Amino acid sequence: MAKKYYIKTFGCQMNVYDSSRIADMLKNEGYIETQKQADADIVLFNTCHIREKAAEKLFSDLGRAKLIADERAENGLDTVIGVAGCVVQAEDEQIIKRAPYVDFAVGPLMYYRIPEILRKVVSDKKHKGIVDTDFPAINKFDFLPENKAQGACSYLAVQEGCNNFCTYCVVPYTRGAECSRTVKEVVEEAKRLIATGTLEINLLGQNVNSYHGEDENGKERNLAYLLHKIAELDGLKRLRYTTSYPADMSDDLIACHKDIDILMPYLHLPVQSGSDKILKAMNRRHTSADYLKIVEKLYAANPKLKMSSDFIVGFPGETDEDFAKTLEVVNKVKYIQAFSFKYSRRPGTPAAVMENQVEEKVKKERLDVLQTLLFDYQTKFNEACVGQTMPVLFEQKGRHKGQLIGRTPYMQNLHIETKGDNMNKIIDVVVTAATTNSLSGKEI
Ligand code: SAH
Ligand code: SF4
Ligand code: F3S
Repeated sequence: MAKKYYIKTFGCQMNVYDSSRIADMLKNEGYIETQKQADADIVLFNTCHIREKAAEKLFSDLGRAKLIADERAENGLDTVIGVAGCVVQAEDEQIIKRAPYVDFAVGPLMYYRIPEILRKVVSDKKHKGIVDTDFPAINKFDFLPENKAQGACSYLAVQEGCNNFCTYCVVPYTRGAECSRTVKEVVEEAKRLIATGTLEINLLGQNVNSYHGEDENGKERNLAYLLHKIAELDGLKRLRYTTSYPADMSDDLIACHKDIDILMPYLHLPVQSGSDKILKAMNRRHTSADYLKIVEKLYAANPKLKMSSDFIVGFPGETDEDFAKTLEVVNKVKYIQAFSFKYSRRPGTPAAVMENQVEEKVKKERLDVLQTLLFDYQTKFNEACVGQTMPVLFEQKGRHKGQLIGRTPYMQNLHIETKGDNMNKIIDVVVTAATTNSLSGKEI
């Protein structure tokens, strides 16, 4: 019987992309996927270190994985337990110290070694936990197998790492310095994704709009150039990119929102705070006026464009006045979706040792106020969609028979009951009802 793998992914879209590439490698090794952890011969956790809770979750999951592995052992079945991702980069050997039954742990830049490590682990039952957290001099993408579409919507990593060093953030330490793939590499991967069924590509990077990959003549090209190149490919219906850093929103990138018709009218552009004092302490390199100017230019480039953002409340030194400025930005931009978090102290980052840390109680109160306002805008936008016709890309089966879940151009989830075979297709749908988190619709 074929061996099975089970992967649980935490964190950002980059981790989702990495997990799909790890799955490609395991398939090449003859493994098949299972959604049931108890059936898996290899269990892998692809981890996130961004906030304290995200990292702690790993150790409770590992404890559970060990119990399941023990039960399997009673039935004569071996289980390999592996950990990948940003927690590994941050914790290194500590992972094996805290969870000695972990067979291997690889950082986000070393996961291309998983097949080799796996073979070693399977052939040598007495092996010790293998840990690899190097920052390699080579490009990990060169060592990955050719990938196939992850479905009708696929992620495509074009850039990895970050040089921005926002003072709260672990990413520059876990993913290392910024590194862009070449234009050719990205275009080839996009062509393969389209040939195997992708209709929508989301270009990914921790700081995707700082992309500066080389073209075939060795000339550095930016994200605007790359978007135009990919938009030209036959068969592609939708294009997106995420996540962008405000200070890197160049005018030619903004112009893409006017000139490229398959670029979806939705952009995630995290502001984090509306207070210039806090933005400076965060080392964000933009003021709230800079940010609002960029949004104004984007809305002028495509009047249909809508925005989403990330926010941190309770950063060290944040006063009620600073927080009120964040609410002002929300009221000006009118985000249709957003992620908001209480500031989490991450060891090794400058903000973790700043004085004037904000009390937990105050953070919670501010988060409640911010989320109420954000949900209000999100609900209003969803409700305003009722009665409109939208092209929806269906990519997931719903809970009931005949139910499909798709994405609107604005990344809203939309459910329909359908008799036809509309999976992996873009269909025009009339929106019939809305809640804060999703829409329902009818085929026309
Ligand atoms: N590269 C992206 C996002 C990286 S992490 C960017 O620059 O915007 C995703 C989000 O997690 C961040 O936008 C931020 O809002 C949040 N985040 C990162 N570090 C955090 C911390 N220490 N505490 C709370 N939220 C944090
Ligand atoms: Fe983190 Fe800032 Fe880089 Fe985003 S831009 S990954 S928040 S350091
Ligand atoms: Fe988390 Fe690493 Fe992404 S810390 S948010 S998985 S880059």
